[in-house]
Amino acid sequence: MVDKKNLRTPIVSVMGHVDHGKTTLLDKIRGSSVAAGEAGAITQHIGATEVPIDVIVEKCGNPSLRERFVVPGLLFIDTPGHHAFTSLRSRGGALADLAIVVVDINEGFKPQTIESLQILKRFKTPFVVVANKIDRIHGWNPVPNASFLVSYNKQAEHVQQYLDNKFYEVIGELFNIGFNADRYDRIKDFQHTIGVIPISGHTGEGISDVLMVLLGLAQKFLEANLQYDASGPGVATVLEVKEERGLGTTVDLILYDGMLQKGDTIVLGSLGEPIQTKVRAILKPRPLSEIKSEEKFQQVDKVIAAVGIKISAPNLDGALAGTPLRVATAETIDKIVKDIKQEVDAVHIDTDTMGITIKADTIGSLEALVNELKKEEIAIRKADVGDITHRDIVEVSAIEESQYSVLVGFNVKILPDAKEKAQLSNIKLFVNDVIYRLIDDYKDWIEEQKE
Ligand code: GTP
Ligand code: MG
Repeated sequence: MVDKKNLRTPIVSVMGHVDHGKTTLLDKIRGSSVAAGEAGAITQHIGATEVPIDVIVEKCGNPSLRERFVVPGLLFIDTPGHHAFTSLRSRGGALADLAIVVVDINEGFKPQTIESLQILKRFKTPFVVVANKIDRIHGWNPVPNASFLVSYNKQAEHVQQYLDNKFYEVIGELFNIGFNADRYDRIKDFQHTIGVIPISGHTGEGISDVLMVLLGLAQKFLEANLQYDASGPGVATVLEVKEERGLGTTVDLILYDGMLQKGDTIVLGSLGEPIQTKVRAILKPRPLSEIKSEEKFQQVDKVIAAVGIKISAPNLDGALAGTPLRVATAETIDKIVKDIKQEVDAVHIDTDTMGITIKADTIGSLEALVNELKKEEIAIRKADVGDITHRDIVEVSAIEESQYSVLVGFNVKILPDAKEKAQLSNIKLFVNDVIYRLIDDYKDWIEEQKE
């Protein structure tokens, strides 16, 4: 058995289509209600919530679990529906150890559900699918916070049948994307079959099952990967760069390895030279609270992976979401600066060769788009982070070959003056928040041009 002390908390990304219930599910898990306070119930920022194993065990109502599981808890990351999971990147892969894909059982699969699953497939991340909002099924008789099976067995037969039909549609959709799936309680081998759990984020039905399956996946697939050196230099991913009153520019990050202390020298990515600075303050959300409500922060001198924290430090302007942040010493700093620069440069393309121009909201989403375009052998001239500006339009409209006079934007806005300029030029603009839509639209357009 692995030593408990050296296992870090697994990072669980909650993914899925807009409004299918990601935030509500997390709320229910932590017993708060952030979604109710959100403007239009849309999550504006990425939050992280640590749920200690004791809380999970209590929710599952089975104290003997405490002995069975050695992970210290689960760290949930809520990614807004319009925001790609890919922002949660770590070098050459995904930051998340596990994922939950939320799908509204009444609506079925949507583009972002499919995109989430494709990303998980590419990164080989273990995950569960939750078929949410079962309480909306006509005639549903809720049993608050019960395990799904307990509740299911209390439903009328026609209600069960309706749920089964909807449920098999989800299984069918998963099969179409290349996943074998079944109801979680019928699965013996989670390695080859994806567990699907009908739940309600409102009534809490099925949530204990979700936690149990996640713990099982963590234990089975991750134990070796979760071992780490708690006293080693910290390694993190920047989730968000934010201006905070009284603090200046701060970064929200997920520390996934080692330790971070006040006063540490850190290096983090930007589009130019990596930023070198010293940690002024570490702000930690209180247990079971959300990273975005500042009044809930407490200052700490030291944190150990895995945690979601905010730091303040001088010179954070220009820091880039999705890039690494690492603790450096006099001996390691040169190498770390070089590595981080290389990592950012690999994604942030700027060449003289012929190709299309692309923009994305974060370095992670840019990386995902670059990878997909390369797979399709679509040439890229320039790949950059940020909204589409007037200058982008001017640059692209100077390109004569029509197939390259193209701007592809993923998760970005077209700024007003850029929009005006674009209408006057002959460039082709593709903007979407689903990668495969962008690629399909571009390919369709190229075909049309040939005809
Ligand atoms: P984004 O962050 O915008 O991507 O959405 P989300 O996936 O976080 O969805 P959210 O949790 O904000 O829920 C969207 C709406 O669905 C809200 O009005 C919720 O109250 C509602 N909702 C979520 N889960 C359930 C559920 O289990 N049952 C019912 N009836 N409504 C739900
Ligand atoms: Mg949300």
